[in-house]
Amino acid sequence: MDAKETKAQALHDFAQYVNPMKARILHHAGLDIIEARREGVRVWDLEGRSYIDCITSAGSFNVGRRNPAIVAALKAALDEADQGIFLLASKGKADLGRRLAEITPGDLKFSMFGASGGEAVDFAIKLARGYTRRPKIISTNKGYHGHTGFALSAIGRDAYQAPFHPLMPEFVRVPFGDLGALAAAMDDRTAGVLMEPVQGEGGINVAPDGYLAGVRALCDKAGAMMILDEIQTGFGRTGTMFACEWAGVVPDIMTLGKSLGGGLYPITAVVFREPLGDFLVMNPFIHLSTFGGADLGCAVGLATIAFLVENDLPGNAQRMGERFMAGFAALQEKYPEVLREYRGRGLMMGLQYADDSMGPRMSYQLAQHGVIALYTGNDPSVMRLQPPLTIASEEVDEVLAALDGSMAAIAAGSGTSPAAAGGEKKRRPQR
Ligand SMILES: Cc1ncc(COP(=O)(O)O)c(C=O)c1O
Repeated sequence: MDAKETKAQALHDFAQYVNPMKARILHHAGLDIIEARREGVRVWDLEGRSYIDCITSAGSFNVGRRNPAIVAALKAALDEADQGIFLLASKGKADLGRRLAEITPGDLKFSMFGASGGEAVDFAIKLARGYTRRPKIISTNKGYHGHTGFALSAIGRDAYQAPFHPLMPEFVRVPFGDLGALAAAMDDRTAGVLMEPVQGEGGINVAPDGYLAGVRALCDKAGAMMILDEIQTGFGRTGTMFACEWAGVVPDIMTLGKSLGGGLYPITAVVFREPLGDFLVMNPFIHLSTFGGADLGCAVGLATIAFLVENDLPGNAQRMGERFMAGFAALQEKYPEVLREYRGRGLMMGLQYADDSMGPRMSYQLAQHGVIALYTGNDPSVMRLQPPLTIASEEVDEVLAALDGSMAAIAAGSGTSPAAAGGEKKRRPQR
């Protein structure tokens, strides 16, 4: 089979055996791409077309695609280890636990490892309830925390929850950024307040100045646990190693995932402050995970943190984020009928288009221009841009040029299908 046939077969089988409607939506957004080669900020599809990856599995590739240093660390670990016996201590878990305690702020100290972000959020909520012996969990509208039991109950989008009622009891939601609403919802039954410092899936909503410090103060007053979900914002994405650092706030519990696995091996962690360790003293086997904290994952996590620190990727995220913002300002001036607003922090950026149709149409156009980017689930008028933190200024300019070309096509009325988008230039495969 040649590349074209292999791609057609894969897309056909995906639609037949995995998810037919998803296959159609991806097709219409120009994202029916089968990833082949992956390197740095780029992926190549089976037919050799290259794309700058601005999706990165929502921030899973902070160190780039198939970063050679992380691949080498995983290969070396494979030479002598496997997942390990989860019930035993291991050097990998011990080393990664220590390193996470070193790089997280304040007295965040203990780590509970997992294999998915949802699992991490579930444990964070269990810990808040178990430690405080209180039932109530407050989360935010449009927040995103995964699809497992407790996490799904906290998620801020009704559509994800609707088929599964009844959800967990004692979950309450408040508008993100509204301290008054949070204060009104909090009481002496509140175990924890869970939120993202920058809502990702919710549409790149950055916590307003002073908000996270206000949440901290309200939690302190009520004796509730502040849980920051840094699964997407962590590991340099917003210009500091963790987003809570720019807010000058230390949460009681922090969830970490995605980029901890270097884009190669699933591993997540819940890091929590020293006093909460008492709960584990009483309940050392209260949360178990066969794949959580696998020795291979720990090796990858340690190599990823080393690469982030040695190459100052948080600093690069800050600098490249500023370059993007300057470019967005120019694009907004040029295409006010397409680009309404832009926002973000570091390389966690969002473009607010004029209407809901423009997210899918821009995804389609950008793919034609060699960039993959997705609109958000909560709001199709918002596009997320989250390239690897290794991106260089020339690559930022390449993405900005692709946005320029795509917005020009949208302003001229192009749609998502090849027919509607007629006249666009055919991209030649690059190798
Ligand atoms: C902020 C946040 N929390 C939790 C999750 C869930 O992580 P996972 O998909 O690994 O379960 C995600 C995934 O996108 C996320 O962005």
